[in-house]
Amino acid sequence: MASACITGLGMYVPPKVVKNDDLKAFYDTSDEWIYTRSGIQERRWVEEPASTAELGLYAAQEALKMANKKPSDIDLIIFATLSPDMYFPGSGVLLQNLLGLETTPALDIRQQCSGFIYGLSIADQYIRTGMYQTILLVGAEIQSTWIDYNPEGRTVGVLFGDGAGAAVIEATNAPGRGVLSTHLYSQGAYARELCVAEPSSATRRHELPGSYGMRPYMNGKEVFRHAVQRMGEAVQIALATQKWSPEEVDLYVLHQANIRIVQAIAEFFHLPMEKFYNNIHKYGNTTAASIPICLTEAWQEGRLKSGHKVILAAFGSGFTWGSAALVW
Ligand code: UT7
Repeated sequence: MASACITGLGMYVPPKVVKNDDLKAFYDTSDEWIYTRSGIQERRWVEEPASTAELGLYAAQEALKMANKKPSDIDLIIFATLSPDMYFPGSGVLLQNLLGLETTPALDIRQQCSGFIYGLSIADQYIRTGMYQTILLVGAEIQSTWIDYNPEGRTVGVLFGDGAGAAVIEATNAPGRGVLSTHLYSQGAYARELCVAEPSSATRRHELPGSYGMRPYMNGKEVFRHAVQRMGEAVQIALATQKWSPEEVDLYVLHQANIRIVQAIAEFFHLPMEKFYNNIHKYGNTTAASIPICLTEAWQEGRLKSGHKVILAAFGSGFTWGSAALVW
């Protein structure tokens, strides 16, 4: 049976660099607070107006180039974002159109920081059943337009960045290569611990302007606690399923929300931080784009080599979380 193999990777981040100190223009904050609490030094923000689908396009073009594929080779587009261009339809169809495609199916998924892991799992299943051979998976976000620039928005506002990452996923018959297993979880009991509640089907549009519900809310400590526990469990089940020891994995790529979360997981598994690919200092939390941006940079830096054992894991709003075990 064929399994799914990542054959192309690409990323795009807007050129505008926003340093921690730049945020002092609207928040009572400091470089020291942001860096020591999260590991972030700077992030990229789009200059308005911008489109999430367009950011996805730039990343997708790079990924297609690396995979030596044309847009017309794509059987399915999976688009993961929490910041779509429109309330509906999703950004997947917009990307499909930007790629010059006419009727290629496009599937949007709403799994926030876990979007890439969920998308990879979906792609893997389609490839295993033989329904599709070439899938484009994109995670893209424009978050600088939804964060709250009011003083009380500082806890969330300093953490998020804009960007996109993409992967071309193809069927391979090479034994023991590609995606070996994925594990997905969610827990809606915690949906309100990290959310932007509006626009909502429960609110009439004329009530929205200035509505508090349009501002992001995060219970940072609760999210942090669950992120460490749940991503740790997701890594554990990936290791157990593959019968891999923590040490024999060549590279761990965990969602970039806070370097302290990665450090806690590294400590739990008694692993050095060198086993983990991190770039949160440059981009902040780019939600669904975080893992594919990491993978792209890891590949460019020669940290992903043929035969490498790789574990991906993510946790975020929903709560949703999951992991994937791959052999590169
Ligand atoms: O991607 C989805 C998953 N997201 C996450 O995993 C994020 C998880 N949470 C976190 O990363 C951390 O909880 C934060 C980085 C958000 C916050 O770190 P913390 O160590 O939990 O800080 P805190 O929320 O307990 O805040 C400590 C203090 C508070 O002041 P008081 O009440 O102690 O006087 C905050 O008001 O820091 C204050 N504070 C800030 N100060 C300067 C909150 N935000 C800021 C800020 N600048 N931006």
